[in-house]
Amino acid sequence: MIRKRGQFFRMDTPNTTLVIDAERAETVYYGERLSGACEFSAYTGSGRRLFSVFGRSGGSEYSVAFFHSDGGFTADFSFARAKVSDAKPVLPDLPSSYGEGKTLELRYTDPAKLALHLFFTVFEDSDVIAVSAQLHNAGKKPVRLQRLMSLQLELPGAGYRIHTFDGAWGRERHETVHTLQNGTFVNQVSEGYSSHMHNPFVVAEGPCGLFGFNLVYSGNHKEAFECVGGVTRALIGINDAFFDWEIAPGESFFAPEAVVCFAPDEDALRLRMHAFVSEHIVRGRWKKRERPVLFNNWEGTYFDFDEQKILAIAAAAKEAGAELFVLDDGWFGKRDSDTCSLGDWQDNAAKTGGLAQLGEKVRAMGLEFGIWMEPEMINEDSDLYRAHPGYAMKVPGRTPVRQRHQLMLNLADERVQNFVVRAVSDVLTRSGATYLKWDFNRHMSDCYGKGVPAGEYFHRYMLGFYRVAAKLAKRFPGVLFEGCAGGGGRFDLGILCYFPQIWASDDTDARMRTDIQRGTSYAYPQSSIGAHVSACPNHQTGDDNTLAARFNVACGGVLGYELDPTKLSEEERAAIARQVAFYKEHRKTLQFGSQYRLCGEGVEGYIAVSKDEASAVAVVNALNVLPGQPDLFVRFKGLNPSCVYEVTRADPSAAADGETFLAGGDLLMHGCLPLHGLWEEKLAQHCSGGIVSRMYLFKKTKQRS
Ligand code: DGJ
Repeated sequence: MIRKRGQFFRMDTPNTTLVIDAERAETVYYGERLSGACEFSAYTGSGRRLFSVFGRSGGSEYSVAFFHSDGGFTADFSFARAKVSDAKPVLPDLPSSYGEGKTLELRYTDPAKLALHLFFTVFEDSDVIAVSAQLHNAGKKPVRLQRLMSLQLELPGAGYRIHTFDGAWGRERHETVHTLQNGTFVNQVSEGYSSHMHNPFVVAEGPCGLFGFNLVYSGNHKEAFECVGGVTRALIGINDAFFDWEIAPGESFFAPEAVVCFAPDEDALRLRMHAFVSEHIVRGRWKKRERPVLFNNWEGTYFDFDEQKILAIAAAAKEAGAELFVLDDGWFGKRDSDTCSLGDWQDNAAKTGGLAQLGEKVRAMGLEFGIWMEPEMINEDSDLYRAHPGYAMKVPGRTPVRQRHQLMLNLADERVQNFVVRAVSDVLTRSGATYLKWDFNRHMSDCYGKGVPAGEYFHRYMLGFYRVAAKLAKRFPGVLFEGCAGGGGRFDLGILCYFPQIWASDDTDARMRTDIQRGTSYAYPQSSIGAHVSACPNHQTGDDNTLAARFNVACGGVLGYELDPTKLSEEERAAIARQVAFYKEHRKTLQFGSQYRLCGEGVEGYIAVSKDEASAVAVVNALNVLPGQPDLFVRFKGLNPSCVYEVTRADPSAAADGETFLAGGDLLMHGCLPLHGLWEEKLAQHCSGGIVSRMYLFKKTKQRS
């Protein structure tokens, strides 16, 4: 709800309130929801600006910067008008949130006939506020935009703890905390994709609570925090590195949408972010639909397979209860290694028997058929490159940087966009696939497109990618697209607007996945996180963990298996069948329930609670069990304190479950459940990875009086 009182606009979400002084362009208040009518006049004049420019706002990081064509670069915006409407701004070719809500549009004008529009959208059912910015040039000369941040929020005081989610291939989104007392802290990426290194999601933790920020964008991003004049300025938007965009007279530049959420603690922030993504970002047929349990052949075979092997894996997958078989890399052109054929999306029929037939055979087993592609890439050793070398992203006369032996396609070019749409459409139509894993295995380096100004390249690439993704999502509404980027290199809200789930990491080791999935699930719901059980020793770490531990960890996301089941023992296959049956039974809660992270000394895990609080599944992992250690313990979360639960030590991997006990929701949440016998369990496992993992199943028995 948005209410106006004089120059004040008050935006209420179910649990938060944001108050803006439109005329002064200031944030007056943002935090816990205020009750009743409020008088804000004593709180204005705090200097917490809604935007900042060089020379007039202090500091060194600004939300808007541009060069006029006369050589000046002064900006001097003053209030022009405010408007509340039911319509969200349309951001041409950019993904953005959707749903019923009100939007406040503030307009500030500069004497050079530039208009800065700031948009704030409040959804009735969400504590996340969506913010975007537009710079319109109503003058007669072009303006060179150097930066337009999507969101500026100035927080009172300094000393904020900034949480970022960082890593590399194989260890994405590990949480790091930096305390900012003075100066500037920047979380940014300038290699053309949201990246393995620094996710666009950041949190500023202050004395009143947490402010979570994210960007609906998959390219270069920047989240800057600067202590300036008694406030901490947060700026969220496209990275201005290599950015220089000409706005012609009569035209506008639209910054991608940013989102912000206030919450009193981490649990509330997670739940609010999850609810927002599930309701206002993910769309289409798969929005609330339970996601299938899949088997993917990548780690089971890599490039070394033929039709017979694939069908044997699919048959074993079916026997285990899988619903979808996914054929990964290596089915097309001459691709028996990663050195060739990207771009040649024609069948290697000698290897697979042809996609159409293979798809038919898999479906005849009672499985859906899914396929892997890497549509934005090209190998020089490909027919596509030989026919259209100009489709590749490279600078004429220079040797390009190759990564995994490949170049990128120049998606800033409409012809190339059309090629990709055609290629993907052909593969989906030919194979009848109902799932597509969309991979992206390198960073950008030799950015160049004929006729594309250098400073516009990165963003024009992203607009091209989004045009392609939007067309395909519309053309194939029934297909479940899973984003992937050399593991989890492009896990962001932009991707989730088109692809409802994303492969979180190539690292499937259970211990590594606990950190990766904990970091990822801070901002993104479990139904968006691809999580697979793989073979041991793990291909990334060389460590062993029990099948039970690997399964328990993978249940924290959308479950799949990434192995060759024909190489497993009868016993292991039977255990997997029990796991899959258990997962399906509790899938709704695991994928769409309220997920809380559990943590304590030496212990981590999660609990997923059904929406009606009647049942829950928890996983508790003891990561480093040592001899002579006192008992570790766990406190659960999210249960109904006035209900009694029957709690079972579930072990879907074994033939029978463990003990059962009764306890009230309040005791389960406030008491410390001792985890007896961890050391004995660890010794019995003989596993180098050493996680001791327990699963608990909660069923509500009665309401207490
Ligand atoms: C990287 C992905 O993350 C893997 O899962 C797999 O699909 C390979 N690419 C295939 O080349």
